[in-house]
Amino acid sequence: MLRDKHILVGVTGSIAAYKAAMLVRALVKGGAEVKIVMTPLAKEFITPLTLATLAKNPILVDFFNPENGEWNSHVSLGEWADAYVIAPATANTLAKMAHGIADNLLLTTYLSARCPVFVAPAMDLDMYAHVTTCQNIAMLRSHGVHIIEPEEGELASGLSGKGRMAEADEIAACLSSFFEKEMTLQGKRFLVTAGPTVEAIDPVRYISNHSTGKMGYAIATELASRGAEVILVSGPVSLPVPTGVRRVDVVSAKEMFEASMAAFADVDGAVMCAAVADYTPANPENSKIKRKDDIVLQLKPTKDIAAELGRVKGEKLLIGFALETDNEETNAKGKLERKNLDYVVLNSLRDEGAGFGVDTNKITVIGRDGTAIAYPLESKAQAASHIVSLVENFFKK
Ligand code: CTP
Repeated sequence: MLRDKHILVGVTGSIAAYKAAMLVRALVKGGAEVKIVMTPLAKEFITPLTLATLAKNPILVDFFNPENGEWNSHVSLGEWADAYVIAPATANTLAKMAHGIADNLLLTTYLSARCPVFVAPAMDLDMYAHVTTCQNIAMLRSHGVHIIEPEEGELASGLSGKGRMAEADEIAACLSSFFEKEMTLQGKRFLVTAGPTVEAIDPVRYISNHSTGKMGYAIATELASRGAEVILVSGPVSLPVPTGVRRVDVVSAKEMFEASMAAFADVDGAVMCAAVADYTPANPENSKIKRKDDIVLQLKPTKDIAAELGRVKGEKLLIGFALETDNEETNAKGKLERKNLDYVVLNSLRDEGAGFGVDTNKITVIGRDGTAIAYPLESKAQAASHIVSLVENFFKK
């Protein structure tokens, strides 16, 4: 799957830089064309000559060639690449990437790259476990960067733990399976709903819920990474638009209903991940409600978007979610029936690490025939990958 792919390898200043040589060799052997950008410090760990010889391309480090003033364009490097893999990625580079610092060519290229970006962190175990590194990695993940987890083992410091960069073959395999995946949903279009809805009480107050949109965004990301066209109808969240996804911003359940119905006409399937308000104020006020003793807020039900799509779905694929606090499986199966879903993805707020805000989820996918597959607690990206594999299988039939 690497044949003729343009892979840009970024190398930063870590002992693990020697493994970059093996990575470049594996990529070239796999048929990829490889270009390399290094940070100035990376040159202290591995020579540009070694990497340039293996890549069969000159190495780029500076913004311009000091001998002739020729500009090394980070923009064209980013445009050239089908994938950008930064291996090894130090804690320093990960932090700069997460915060948009662009003080070397490797980082400016990251900021301007439109292609998928992979990082293979390499550092000492305490640096890897440090709260700021964890936050930076979580932030990068939420920005759509693919994290190739380091392994446990002996580290350069002499200590042993998690922080050793993944082996070159594993990184190459990761890229290869990414490109393999990319093909499977090409030509298909999907609607994904995500995030909360916000229902105005007056111009100042509203009713909403704790949804952050992470699960829906992970699904949209995964669908797009397998080549699908994705329309993401999203309530207000603070996540960036995933690469290759078209986002339609909505606020209220009514707006989400209208945008979803419009998009559904033209898609092959939909994954309903949004936490849609079931009720909205019956008479939202145009001016701020003033403080008084008691207030009775009259609510009216909103439209059930998934159920409405279920009514008109025909042969299209419809997947819904069920976030439950009790009687989980019975409630989820009830939703599958009531909304005419093909699959319902159950997650329980009783499971630690599942639900709103967190980066992990524990899902059980229930099909129409009653079969249920329970997955362990894993990242939302991994959970999304299981769900999208179901989507893939549905269209293979
Ligand atoms: N859903 C929707 N429109 C609504 C309510 C829910 O599209 N107005 C979708 C959700 O996106 C999810 C599924 O229906 O895919 C189940 O949502 P959930 O809130 O768990 O269920 P409800 O049907 O609202 O039932 P309840 O709140 O009673 O659990």
